[in-house]
Amino acid sequence: MKKTTATFKQAKADGKKLTMLTAYDYSTAALVDGAGIDGILVGDSLGNVMLGYEDTISVTMEDMIHHGAAVARGAKDCLVVIDMPFMSYQESIEEAVHNAGRLMKEGRANAVKLEGGASVAAQIKAITDAGIPVMAHLGLTPQSINAFGGYKVQGKTEAAAKKLLEDAKVVEEAGAFAVVLECVPSALAAMVTKSLSIPTIGIGAGSDCDGQILVYQDLLGMFSDFTPKFVRRYAEIGAAMKDAFKAYIADVQSGAFPAPEHGYKIADEVIEKLY
Ligand code: KIV
Repeated sequence: MKKTTATFKQAKADGKKLTMLTAYDYSTAALVDGAGIDGILVGDSLGNVMLGYEDTISVTMEDMIHHGAAVARGAKDCLVVIDMPFMSYQESIEEAVHNAGRLMKEGRANAVKLEGGASVAAQIKAITDAGIPVMAHLGLTPQSINAFGGYKVQGKTEAAAKKLLEDAKVVEEAGAFAVVLECVPSALAAMVTKSLSIPTIGIGAGSDCDGQILVYQDLLGMFSDFTPKFVRRYAEIGAAMKDAFKAYIADVQSGAFPAPEHGYKIADEVIEKLY
C-alpha cells in the first residue's frame, strides 16, 4: 500500500521508527522501495554524490525534477520527497510555491523538503496551504555551508540549542509534516523529538529521533570523497563494483569476454553468400 504523510504521522503516534534513504535514479529507487523503506528523499546531495560538486549550492530545479521524476517512476510504495534546491524558495513566497508546485507536477513528488526554521516559516505555510506537504530540515543545513563555515555539528551552545528547539516548533506550527535533524547532539535531538507532534528524521542526531535517513552511497561504501562519523556501512558495494570493472577489463583484454554464448547466430549459408 502506498505510504503517505499520514503513515508518517501514524508511525509517531505508534512509536514505530520511520526509515528513509536517498535515491536519485529509477533502478536504485526500485531497489530501495522494494526493500520496504517508508520514504525516499531525492536529496540535493545529488550535487555531491551524483554530479561531483563539492557542495549543494549549484544544484538546479532542472536537476531535481530530472532525478525526482526518475525516482518517482521506480518507487511504487514509499513516500517520495524531493528537495527544493538552493535559492528556489528563499527569495520570495510566490517563487517558493511555484517551485514546490513544479517538483510535484514535473517531478511527481509526494512532498518537498526545504532547509531552515523561522526564516522560511512563511514559505512552509504558503506551500502547505497550496496542498503540498513540506518536510523541514534543521541543524546542519548544507545549503548554508558558506554561512556555517564548514560541515559542523549544530546546536551545541545554549543559545544555538534554544534556537533549534524554537525553530522546530515554528516549522511544526507552519505546517511541516516532519522535520529532518542533521548533525545535532543526540540529547538535543531527543528533546526536539519529545516536544513535537510531527516526526523527527535524524541523520547524525542519535537514536531517539522518530526515524533515520542516510545517503545510500554512504551506507553502501560507494562514495569516498568523505564519510561522516554518523554513517554505518552495510556493504562494500564500491569495492565490489571496482573488482567487477577490473574483471571485465581483464576479460575483454584477454578475449575471455564475450564468449560464444553472448553472441547471436546467423545461418552459415547467409555468411557464405557474402564471400
Ligand atoms: O540532500 C540530502 O540528501 C539531505 C539528507 C542528508 C537529509 O538533505
